[in-house]
This record gives sequence, structure tokens and C-alpha cells, in this order.
Amino acid sequence: MKGRMQTELHLQKRSKVSTSFNAFDHLRIVRIRRVKIESPSAKTFVFQDKLCAKAEPGQFIMVWIPGVDEIPLSLSTITPNGRTLITVAEVGETTKTLHERKRGDILGIRGPYGKGFTLTSGNIMIIGGGTGLVPLMPLTNKLVKLSTSLTLLLGAKTKDELLFLDRISQTLSKVDARVVVMTEDGSHGLKGIVTDQAEQKLANEKFDMIYACGPEKMMHKMFLLAERHHTPLQTSLERLMRCAMGLCGSCMIGNLRVCKDGPVLTREQLRTIKKEFGKLKLDFTGRKIAV
Ligand SMILES: Cc1cc2nc3c(=O)[nH]c(=O)nc-3n(C[C@H](O)[C@H](O)[C@H](O)COP(=O)(O)OP(=O)(O)OC[C@H]3O[C@@H](n4cnc5c(N)ncnc54)[C@H](O)[C@@H]3O)c2cc1C
Ligand code: FES
Repeated sequence: MKGRMQTELHLQKRSKVSTSFNAFDHLRIVRIRRVKIESPSAKTFVFQDKLCAKAEPGQFIMVWIPGVDEIPLSLSTITPNGRTLITVAEVGETTKTLHERKRGDILGIRGPYGKGFTLTSGNIMIIGGGTGLVPLMPLTNKLVKLSTSLTLLLGAKTKDELLFLDRISQTLSKVDARVVVMTEDGSHGLKGIVTDQAEQKLANEKFDMIYACGPEKMMHKMFLLAERHHTPLQTSLERLMRCAMGLCGSCMIGNLRVCKDGPVLTREQLRTIKKEFGKLKLDFTGRKIAV
């Protein structure tokens, strides 16, 4: 068991919490049906769960890896029959152990939790970097039916780290969509960072909504651009999570609990956490550290 599980958390001042337990809060044991290697650092795990079928794009589940820890993960595919996909980058102990799991192994899950993306129609921009693309996948599936025009800006450090390119081209094959792929080293698509491309597009075109997910610095840049161009924005934030029910305070940013008020936050909500968004986060001991 990791040390941080025993660590006392310094709870942050927060708004009154009202939480009632329901079926989503019970730990369910699921069996891994398939494992797919997506990139050198990311794998997708497929399992079956009825309650995940009810998830909205952008909601997350808590995944318990027996003997290690429980971590928040977005759903990369949501289906009406409960076939569910999570896509995970290996960054530390828990994700490393999860990457070692094979078909037939078990996981514990609870959720889905949090506020997902609100669907909108019109001229839409979706911008994602790295595993930030995960919650944007089920969102894109829904938006192809709603939007009049869709612009997808996809970024990664290198070609190998680009996720879901096949899935995206399949999803967008029958709709009016523009896709710009960018890598920082220029190994695929355009060379550069996706926010530069977003800046150019926003200077020339009016968008009805921007959906963004990726490294926090990228989302912060999108917030500044959305403010400058008076464009509505929804971003999915990441913070440490323990209870995922709004109780423990480990996911606080300003006065918001990312597990309950988010993870998807609007431009108006981001304005209220300007002092911390893109700058500070809580560590496992409850101290504020640089993002
Ligand atoms: C709502 C939500 C949805 C997420 N969805 C996905 C997803 O779909 N795919 C995916 O690969 N990851 C996702 N994450 C991040 C994932 O939860 C962390 O990568 C994981 O908890 C790391 O655990 P670890 O023990 O392997 O690494 P740790 O040893 O805990 O940490 C390794 C590094 O990752 C950082 N880190 C740890 N937890 C988080 C976190 N929650 N947010 C940001 N940084 C963190 C640490 O600061 C450290 O630098 C999501 C996080 C949240 C809050
Ligand atoms: S309040 Fe516990 S994880 Fe959000």
C-alpha cells in the first residue's frame, strides 16, 4: 500500500458538502476482456459494466488495482451495452501495475463520477493533447451528430504518442470536420504545439464552443484565448483524487472540488480559480505545489 494512503490530508476550506451514497459508489469487480497497446506509454483496457453505460462524456471512474491504489480515469469509450474502455498512460506506481494487468485479471471500479461535458451545437473546436484526448473521444462521438462544423486539433510530443488517430478518422468519415494533427518534433502532421494552431483559428473564425483537455499549461493557454475571443470553453481538469465524492478535499482548486464540481469546468468557473489554475495543485500531503 502506498505511503500516501496513510498520510493525513490537510482539508481545504470548502463549500457545504451534501453527499448521499448510491449504486455508483459501490465497488464493482470487473474482469479485463482485452488489452490494447495504444502507444509506447498508453494502453487501453476493455471491460463490461452496466453503470458505465450511463456515463456522460467527460465523467470518470475510480479504478482500484488490488494491492496498490485507486486512481481516477476517464472513459475513452462508452457504449449502451456497458462495453467500456479506459486508456491509461504509465506515469507512476499504480499505472505501471495496471499496465502489467492482462486479459482475465480483475479490477475494482466505482462511479461514473463528476460533471461531464455539456453538449452544444454550432461551430465547435475540440483540442486535446496526449492522454487528454481520452475524455474527448466519447464527446466527439456525440458531437458529430450535433455540430454544424467540427474542428479537431490533436497534439502529442511525437508521432508514437499520438492517440486514437484511426478511431478519429473513422468517427469523422461521414461528417464535415477539419482535423489538424501536430507533433512537437514534427514527426507527424504539422510541427509545433496545438495551442498555436488554436490561436490562429480563433483569430479568423467565430466558434460557439471550445472543448479542451490535456496538460494543464495547455488548458490554461486555452482559457486565456477563450477570454480574449469571448468564446465559451469547457475543460477537463486533473487533480489528486481520493473519495471522488466531494468529501476529502484532496482535489480542491480554489473553492471548487474537481471530483464533484468538475472535472469539466467552464470558462466562468475557471475565472473563479484563476490564482491556482495552471499554477498550483495539492500534493499527497495536502501542500500546494507547482503544477
Ligand atoms: C478526472 C481524472 C481523469 C483522468 N483520466 C485519465 C485517463 O483517462 N488516462 C490517464 O492516463 N490518466 C488519467 N488521469 C490521471 C491519472 O489519474 C494519474 O496519472 C494517476 O493517478 C497516476 O497514478 P500513479 O500512481 O501511476 O502515479 P503517481 O505516482 O501518483 O504520480 C506520478 C506523476 O503523475 C502525477 N499525478 C498523479 N495523479 C495525478 C492526477 N490525478 N492528475 C494529475 N497528475 C497526477 C503526480 O504528480 C506525479 O508527477 C485522470 C485524472 C483525473 C483526476
Ligand atoms: S473531495 Fe475527495 S476527491 Fe474530491
